[in-house]
Amino acid sequence: MGNQIICGGATQTLRTLPDESVSCCVTSPPYYGLRDYGVKGQIGLEQTLDRYITRLTEVFREVGRVLARDGTLWIVIADSYAEKQLLGVPWRLAFALRDDGWYLRSAIIWHKPNALPESCRDRPTRSYEHIFLLSKSPQYYYDRQAVAKPVAAGTHARMKRAVSNDHKYAAAVPGQRAQTLSKPRPSRAGREVKLADTRNLRDLWTCSAKSYRGAHFAAYPVELITPCVLAGCPPGGVVLDPFFGSGTTGEAALKLGRRYIGIDLNPGYCRLAEERLKGVISGI
Ligand SMILES: C[S@@+](CC[C@H](N)C(=O)[O-])C[C@H]1O[C@@H](n2cnc3c(N)ncnc32)[C@H](O)[C@@H]1O
Repeated sequence: MGNQIICGGATQTLRTLPDESVSCCVTSPPYYGLRDYGVKGQIGLEQTLDRYITRLTEVFREVGRVLARDGTLWIVIADSYAEKQLLGVPWRLAFALRDDGWYLRSAIIWHKPNALPESCRDRPTRSYEHIFLLSKSPQYYYDRQAVAKPVAAGTHARMKRAVSNDHKYAAAVPGQRAQTLSKPRPSRAGREVKLADTRNLRDLWTCSAKSYRGAHFAAYPVELITPCVLAGCPPGGVVLDPFFGSGTTGEAALKLGRRYIGIDLNPGYCRLAEERLKGVISGI
């Protein structure tokens, strides 16, 4: 299975896929009340937020069935306003999915340094979205090393200083100045301290928003979802995206040596993604 685009509604199309047949899912659903994709059956223009959350929960329930037992789901989602109120859409969805049996593992902030200006005069301009990491089981595939970051230059020095000074703080109690003990307890200073060269990926990701030069308005950047694919999908595995749009998830999968299955309701976007991915394959 893999390297396939299926044009159709997410829930109905997912029902045609076998159980536990994909390694990981990376996606961004249509945002609530934001955009008319011009296709019957589209998600995002429901009368109420509750209905929108229910429909997305149904889609992700099917994703859960299709996902490997140790698979993860990464959802990129933004908030919306209605009648002056911020709706809290990302967290509403996260809690609904948790109630539906998913393990909510991480809430990542996608910080956009090039956020578009907004005309509002009574609140700060929005410059971030959420990326939720959810898993189907308590233990799951997560390649920590594939997304590890180098430790910053000053960190080792700071940690060594902290280790060699640790006896000084042994007598400190809250609200009192720390004192050096007259007889320092054996500190770790003399021992061989092995400091790691890498650190864990953190949950604040800075990545400029880019629009794909094709005809899709809501594409996310390949760089944004690269860590999701690297950590969540083993090499050669299949990444599913039930809201495929311009096919960014497919491009990331191919470039990282994985396969993709993309679903989108809009035949125009399916064609756009098909063309885009042909170009990616011929460039690899
Ligand atoms: C936010 S966009 C995804 C953009 C994509 N991540 C990219 O980088 O191009 C959401 C997509 O969901 C599609 N969509 C809307 N309702 C759908 C449904 N019921 N089933 C499948 N796709 C749907 C829209 O056509 C749109 O392309």
